[in-house]
Amino acid sequence: MPDKTEVNLTDAVVKKIEGAADARFRQVMTSLVRHLHAFVRETRLTEAEWRAGIDFLTATGHKCDHKRQEFILLSDTLGVSMLVDAINHQKPDGATESTVLGPFYVQGAPDMPLGANIAEGVEGEPVYFSGKVVSPDGTPIGGATLDIWSTDGAGQYDVQRPDGELRARGRITTDAQGNYAFWTVKPVSYPIPVDGPVGKMMLTLGRHPYRPAHTHMIVAAPGHETVTTHLFVKGDPYIESDAVFAVKDSLVVDFVPHEPGVAPDGKKMDQAWWSVDYHFGLVSRTQNAAA
Ligand code: BEZ
Ligand code: FE
Repeated sequence: MPDKTEVNLTDAVVKKIEGAADARFRQVMTSLVRHLHAFVRETRLTEAEWRAGIDFLTATGHKCDHKRQEFILLSDTLGVSMLVDAINHQKPDGATESTVLGPFYVQGAPDMPLGANIAEGVEGEPVYFSGKVVSPDGTPIGGATLDIWSTDGAGQYDVQRPDGELRARGRITTDAQGNYAFWTVKPVSYPIPVDGPVGKMMLTLGRHPYRPAHTHMIVAAPGHETVTTHLFVKGDPYIESDAVFAVKDSLVVDFVPHEPGVAPDGKKMDQAWWSVDYHFGLVSRTQNAAA
């Protein structure tokens, strides 16, 4: 058997994979091995650099627990999450585009009535979101749910606070005409968690860790593709340089400022407030299968 060399080693490893029963797994692993080997050859990786890479991945694993997923943060900050999104969620015109889920989603947010304030008592400027959930052709979708979460006005998610109480989260269901409305606080830009190896990597690369202000939503309706998305605040200083590359033009919206007065739902506001008017477009499952 010939010695393994820089020239023949890749093919030798790929040959070992050829017998894998699962064809897709075989394809993905073959490609991974070929790209990894090409990376090592291209960079002429030193042993010290190889060791530093192993140490970095080990530290990334050690930072993970049931509340923190440092590997997803790594994927997000290297643009891999958004590349997977781009490949898997191509949307027709009129359908709301998707973006990253992020690490701060919590299942089981409380169901709240249409028009509720999902951020009662939370620090921040009030904002009234309203609009419809519709099909791309404009047909209203009744009974759609919006699962909403955001930072408070100081840029912190509830799960990052020591008390662990759910805040600025709620689920709202559209009426028969597809209308939704809710109050929350205006999101602000905030840094992704930087106290782990990914934060150190960002710093070493000379990258800032900020995400532009956004409100997260998962919008779902029976018979339709669920969309995981955000609405971003137009004019935010980080819109062009999101640390996780998750901004899409169609998701950047006007937060319209208002003086104290009466809001569209009749609520008397004794402080300044904001409003956002946005229609979410959901693709039906059959429509997507046919596309
Ligand atoms: C977020 O928007 O919550 C988020 C997304 C990716 C990485 C960190 C935070
Ligand atoms: Fe976020």
